[in-house]
Amino acid sequence: MIPQILQSKSKLPDVKTTIFTTVGNLARKHKAIDLSQGFPNFEADPKLMRLVTQAMKQGHNQYAAMQGYYGLREVISEKIEQLHGRSYDPVNEITVTVGATQAIFTAITAFVHPGDEVIVIKPAYDCYEPAIALNGGKAVYVQLNANNYKVDWEEFRNKITSKTRMVVLNTPHNPSGKIITKDDMLQLQEILRDTNILLVSDEVYEHIVFDGCEHQSASRFDDLAQRSFICASFGKTFHVTGWKMGYCAAPKDLMHEFRKTHQFAVFCVDHPTQRAMAEYLKNEEHYMQLNDFYQEKRDFFLSSLKTSRFKFKPSEGTYFQLLDYTEISNEKDEDLALRLITENKLACIPISSFNMNNRQDGVLRFCFAKKRETLEKAAEILCQL
Ligand SMILES: Cc1ncc(COP(=O)(O)O)c(C=O)c1O
Repeated sequence: MIPQILQSKSKLPDVKTTIFTTVGNLARKHKAIDLSQGFPNFEADPKLMRLVTQAMKQGHNQYAAMQGYYGLREVISEKIEQLHGRSYDPVNEITVTVGATQAIFTAITAFVHPGDEVIVIKPAYDCYEPAIALNGGKAVYVQLNANNYKVDWEEFRNKITSKTRMVVLNTPHNPSGKIITKDDMLQLQEILRDTNILLVSDEVYEHIVFDGCEHQSASRFDDLAQRSFICASFGKTFHVTGWKMGYCAAPKDLMHEFRKTHQFAVFCVDHPTQRAMAEYLKNEEHYMQLNDFYQEKRDFFLSSLKTSRFKFKPSEGTYFQLLDYTEISNEKDEDLALRLITENKLACIPISSFNMNNRQDGVLRFCFAKKRETLEKAAEILCQL
């Protein structure tokens, strides 16, 4: 029985345990300071936790509506309209999901057919390509250069063929910390105009943008919005990545198709947490102060690295900072990352794992969504290298 099972062909032959799990396990084993995976090591607002408990006590413990609790969809709709000037109908155009991951997976599954091509910009967060492959699609890559991580829109245009079904865009961008500008979005809009190409817009770090810059949501641009799935994450915004809750907003016809897949993948999302989010989201301070909150952490981390031999450009958004180690070592990034864990007790992510063909750029990714004392200790280690 077992050998037969093993002989069956894997649908994801090239997928290994994710780099986040591998590094996280090693960090725990070696008791290293962990700046690898993207999650905070401080607590969320107690008010939010109280709201979840309250919702449970009030008896919201059975299935929520398949599309998500209506009260939450309503507040999400108001929030998007206020921030980006686009009105999404909470009845037909917003669905609450199990984090952004499920929103992205569902959008890809609902629309990508075998043989379809999906353009992915590398370095890329790791959940896009397996979803494309599971649906028989082919990822077509645009690789960014490590000197500026800017999209070359001419190169991008040249990757479009009659088979292109979808583009995945992520801004603010993990792992580079770059944000896509208004001009970039306008260029993308012109390239996609008059095509049937869909856009999955991964905007999980929408509220973590620095130095007075603005997040350019695809929902702001008329033609892009018509073809876009805006994917967002409450986990990232409210320091509760373990709650795995987010949403997808898209025009009615696209959302209709999206929900056909959503209802059989998860049906609905944790009900008490949705009730709590609906209440908590009503106060815009809960997300509008996040830029300043994380900018303070970024600035503290970078000022603590002043005497180090790492080179860096301050992150423009997300809670990740890339550090160039080429003046310190010529090792491969995965070798250096491993050595940092075992010898220096500090964990980070080697960025080659996000690149095309694991290209080596001589940079490591550090998550600064950490308590001040954690960042201080990490910087002390980094300054000694
Ligand atoms: C770019 C990007 N997209 C999506 C996700 C997943 O978000 P969620 O935890 O809400 O599923 C992450 C998490 O690290 C991410 O960095």
